[in-house]
Amino acid sequence: MSEIDAIKKRHSVRNYEDVKIEQSKVDKLNALIAECNKEGNLHIQFLEDAGKTFNKLLNKFMGLGSAPSVIACIGPDDDTLDERIGYYGERIVLTAQELGLNTCWAGTYNSSNVKAEISDGERLAIVIAIGYGQDGGKPHKSKSMEDVISVKGDRPYWFNSGVEMALLAPTAINQQKFEIRLNEDNSVEFVDKGGILSKIDLGIVKYHFEVGKKYAMENH
Ligand SMILES: Cc1cc2nc3c(=O)[nH]c(=O)nc-3n(C[C@H](O)[C@H](O)[C@H](O)COP(=O)(O)O)c2cc1C
Repeated sequence: MSEIDAIKKRHSVRNYEDVKIEQSKVDKLNALIAECNKEGNLHIQFLEDAGKTFNKLLNKFMGLGSAPSVIACIGPDDDTLDERIGYYGERIVLTAQELGLNTCWAGTYNSSNVKAEISDGERLAIVIAIGYGQDGGKPHKSKSMEDVISVKGDRPYWFNSGVEMALLAPTAINQQKFEIRLNEDNSVEFVDKGGILSKIDLGIVKYHFEVGKKYAMENH
């Protein structure tokens, strides 16, 4: 499965089968996590046993308590952490999809029950539930391309492909509060329009855009 197909197939999944992820897949995820941690200066950790990460009342209502495993998104705490977590976390989410797994980013969880290593100066930004879903989830309602872009002049051929993939990105409560601005020199800016966990959203959106742009450039 290509990353483009993974983007199209990925939906948040909140109800999981009571099945552990095979060691061979865990090894692949851990190898990618190590690469992301190195590249992004992060300390993301795969926790095989989600334990009581999702024992909050809201999780009981929304689901997620059935997720067998969890990815703890941690890194040195600075202003760029949330966006980097979104960017690299989504790369891991899409690889998980390619491996036949399902995921859900989760801002609602019990941080005191997350058995991860958090070093001095680091922060647990968010977690991602992961496992085999009872189903594959369903497409989210989406804003239109024109709702999220600001363009001066002609669009380069890769721009729409990037935006199309960005609109398929998961965002907290499906807020899609971002703007993708195309400048006259064809550089692209991603603007955070606020909202809950919107900097994590922005990193996720940026990653999706890059996948769409790369695909268009390779197939032009
Ligand atoms: C930063 C972030 C935080 C999220 N937090 C939660 C959460 O706490 N609980 C939950 O059920 N879903 C959560 N989600 C999933 C979103 O609700 C979901 O991505 C959105 O509704 C779009 O649906 P989709 O992922 O199926 O495309 C979160 C998503 C993101 C990106």
